Amino acid sequence: MTPAPASPYGTLPAAPATASRKPISLPRLREMHAHGEKITMLTAYDATFAAVADAAGVECILVGDSLGMVCQGLRSTVGVTLEAMRHHTESVARGLRRAQATAWLIADLPFGSYHESKEQALRSAAVLMQAGAHMIKLEGGGWTTETVHFLVERGIPVCAHLGLTPQTVHALGGYRVQGKGDVAGAAMVVLEMVPATLAAALTKGLTACPTIGIGAGVGTAGQVLVLHDMLGMNLGKMPKFVRNFMSEAHSVQGAMQAYVLAVKEGLFPVDARHAW
Ligand code: KIV
Repeated sequence: MTPAPASPYGTLPAAPATASRKPISLPRLREMHAHGEKITMLTAYDATFAAVADAAGVECILVGDSLGMVCQGLRSTVGVTLEAMRHHTESVARGLRRAQATAWLIADLPFGSYHESKEQALRSAAVLMQAGAHMIKLEGGGWTTETVHFLVERGIPVCAHLGLTPQTVHALGGYRVQGKGDVAGAAMVVLEMVPATLAAALTKGLTACPTIGIGAGVGTAGQVLVLHDMLGMNLGKMPKFVRNFMSEAHSVQGAMQAYVLAVKEGLFPVDARHAW
C-alpha cells in the first residue's frame, strides 16, 4: 500500500493493512445482515474524519444533511442545499480515495432536491454520485416509492430513511417518534427513532435490506450516529440515545473504534436506556 504523501498539514490516516479489507459493497452489507454481523455507520463531512472513521473499521460513511447543523450552524436540515451536499460528498470521497479506504459512501439528497418529480430526484442523485457517493439516501415513506423505483431502475442504490425524518420537522411540529413505512426497492433503510420492537420486527422481515438504526434499539442490522454527537460535541441538546464515545478514549480514532466494537458486540445501544 502506498502511504499518503506527507504534507505540512498532516497526512490522512492509512487504512489498517489487513488482507481481509475489501471495499465494502452492497452484497457484502447484505451478507453481514444475513449472518447477523452488525454494520457500523458514522456521518462524516470532510476528508480527514472520513479517513479516520474508515481506519477505525467503520463500514459505511454517511455524508448526512446533518451537516447543516454541525458544520453550518443551521437549526434544521431544511436549509441544506444540493451544492453543499455535493461539496462535502466530494471532499469525503477524495479523502477516502487518498487513504485507500474501503468504506461504502452514502450521501443525503437534501430537502427540495427530490420533492418535485422523479426526474428532479435523478438529476440530484447524479450530482452526488458524480461527487463520489456509492448510494443516496432520501427521507420519507409512501410518497417516495415511485422515486425510489425510478432511481433503482437506473442503477442508483437507494437508502430509505423512515421514522423521524428531520427534513419534515416543520410539518411534524418537532422531532418526534414516527411509525413505519415502505422501503420500495431500497437496498438499505435508516430507521430513526422508531420503537425498538418495530425496528427489530422490520429487520427480521427485510432479509435483503439491512436496517440501520438511530435511536431505534439494538435489534437493527446496524447502527448510525452523527459523528459530532458520539464525540460529545453538540451545539444543541444531545439526543437521549447518543453515547459519548470520546469520554473514555484517548483519540478520535479510539472513540470510533470503541463505537465499532460496542455495536459489533451488541453493547450499543442498550435498549433499556437508549431506545424508545
Ligand atoms: O443527516 C444525518 O446525519 C442522518 C443521520 C441522522 C442518519 O440522516
